[in-house]
Amino acid sequence: MSKSPRIVSTTSAVPALSTLPQHVAVIMDGNGRWAKGRGLPRIAGHRKGVEAVRELVTACGELGIPCLTLFAFSSENWRRPETEVRLLLELFLMALDKEVKKLHTSKVRFRVIGDIERFGPKLGARIQAAEELTRDNQNLTLTIAANYGGRWDVAQACKQLAREAAAGQLDPESITAESLEPHLSMAGIPEPDLFIRTGGEQRISNFLLWQLAYTELYFTPVLWPEFNRSQFDQALASFASRQRRFGQTGDQIEGQEVEQPARAGKGSHA
Ligand code: IPE
Ligand code: IPE
Ligand code: MG
Repeated sequence: MSKSPRIVSTTSAVPALSTLPQHVAVIMDGNGRWAKGRGLPRIAGHRKGVEAVRELVTACGELGIPCLTLFAFSSENWRRPETEVRLLLELFLMALDKEVKKLHTSKVRFRVIGDIERFGPKLGARIQAAEELTRDNQNLTLTIAANYGGRWDVAQACKQLAREAAAGQLDPESITAESLEPHLSMAGIPEPDLFIRTGGEQRISNFLLWQLAYTELYFTPVLWPEFNRSQFDQALASFASRQRRFGQTGDQIEGQEVEQPARAGKGSHA
């Protein structure tokens, strides 16, 4: 069974609709508050958050959701106290060492997006090794956004186009939104269908700015360390109940929904 999702830019064509998202993107927020509420240091919340990641990865594998993208560290998180940043990077390194083999056994393709150079050569090498090891896995593509910023991503894609133009390989007049897409960090992965942010804040915080153009947004006050399978099921149920219109009218969408089962029923004995 092929689990490769179809790639459609939501602004150039209307994608095929499904009640199960093909790509879920998550801002895992609220670790610090979870720890503070228990009188624990913030890093204890981040540690507990790793367990919630494990549970969500398992759930996506079981449900057949082919892509999961998690925001682990934003380009603005460097503004945090030095100790928290250092402990977060240590935790990332430890989690990599501990989890990558298991991910590989579960046929998960692991990748990291973001400006990882700033993490230094040690972490960079581990990330590269993990990406290479899991490159051909087909069950689930797990993307971790680390030192990632949506604006950085668009800017680095523009830089690549500018280089092509400067080299005379690209006519600036021919540039469209689609020209940028192969250069973005999420190239080759469908845009998220469902965005989840835990922790109660209702903002994007410089996550996948470009790719969230037509994503369904789901905000929950549940703090990330407490986000479990039942919370995820609630988010999926909310997603399944929505009408995605991509600029069309509700009547157009309903027309499509009525037509589909009638066509499918023609040759069927069910
Ligand atoms: C999200 O939890 C994890 C990271 C940003 C690394 P926070 O650390 O932001 O938790 P709160 O928002 O302070 O509770
Ligand atoms: C967003 O959370 C980044 C991650 C979860 C990695 P923040 O906690 O950094 O976001 P703001 O600062 O509250 O917007
Ligand atoms: Mg936060």
